[in-house]
Amino acid sequence: EGKYTVTLIEGDGIGIEISKSVKDIYSAAKVPIQWEPVDVTPQLVNGKTTLPKEAIESVFKNKVALKGPLATPIGKGHVSLNLTLRRTFNLFANVRPCKSIVGYKTPYDDVDTVLIRENTEGEYSGIEHTIVPGVVQSIKLITKPASERVIRYAFEYAKSVKKPHILVVHKASIMKLSDGLFVNTAKEVAKEYPGITLDFELIDNTCLKLTTDPTQYSNVVMVMPNLYGDIMSDLSSGLIGGLGLTPSGNMGDNVSIFEAVHGSAPDISGKNLANPTALLLSSCMMLRHMELNSYADKIENAVLKTIASGPENRTKDLKGNAGTDSFTKKIIENL
Ligand code: IPM
Ligand code: MN
Repeated sequence: EGKYTVTLIEGDGIGIEISKSVKDIYSAAKVPIQWEPVDVTPQLVNGKTTLPKEAIESVFKNKVALKGPLATPIGKGHVSLNLTLRRTFNLFANVRPCKSIVGYKTPYDDVDTVLIRENTEGEYSGIEHTIVPGVVQSIKLITKPASERVIRYAFEYAKSVKKPHILVVHKASIMKLSDGLFVNTAKEVAKEYPGITLDFELIDNTCLKLTTDPTQYSNVVMVMPNLYGDIMSDLSSGLIGGLGLTPSGNMGDNVSIFEAVHGSAPDISGKNLANPTALLLSSCMMLRHMELNSYADKIENAVLKTIASGPENRTKDLKGNAGTDSFTKKIIENL
């Protein structure tokens, strides 16, 4: 029936509940998309674990996916499925906006930050060895091509959202070679964008300044290596009310996967406690990417209105007493 088909990876733990919430709200809002649910449980093929062929094909065919959180298996030899997905589809830029929710008060007003995280290498390269027992090495791999493409993405993004400054967040004072390469690459790319200024800041200082006054970063697009982006996105979420609220988009040249910044929260899964807001707002990023802006606005406004309408309509993470289902119902009423 729908005009567009989108791959849906429901995820583990609370993924099931929050995906259901998205599906219910999309039906009610008559969004012209049809979900193609896929299973991403790794398969053993010729002694190697891979993603199921059907899942890979679905994402390549549809080019857009919405993904719930996937639990990361503990133990050696397991690469997080989340990372496998980012790598399989070469999703090199992870866009993580963080905006205050008017109507949900925190000690910080008017937060409006965005960070772009390099999403394929750095400390997430998965190259680790034990040299001798008690001495290990985890390689932080930084390459010029990967740095260049994420930095260029950040400049293009800055242009499109009309934020006139790029801030490279780094620790090149200590990581002289790896972060140094990232910093120098930014200086080169910046020459292509005379209308946008380029600044640099040490990551520890950015953390301090963000928690002092985040509005200093309202006109800035931050770009940084992988692990810094992981940490700073959680820090940013904390400013506006937690991980239940922040969306993200994993962007590649051909494929994009939108997902919440949070994990599968096994402690609250199946208890009707999960906040679907982060996945809903991720889906709104997805709708805008698909140029379905009016549906994105409609859903986002209903979510914000519901949160603003008081604790009885908020989930527990936002000091409210609504369940996932009654929160979802209220959003549908507010569409
Ligand atoms: C995130 C998550 C992931 C990451 C985990 C689940 C592998 O924390 O998307 O920020 O570290 O990138
Ligand atoms: Mn994280």
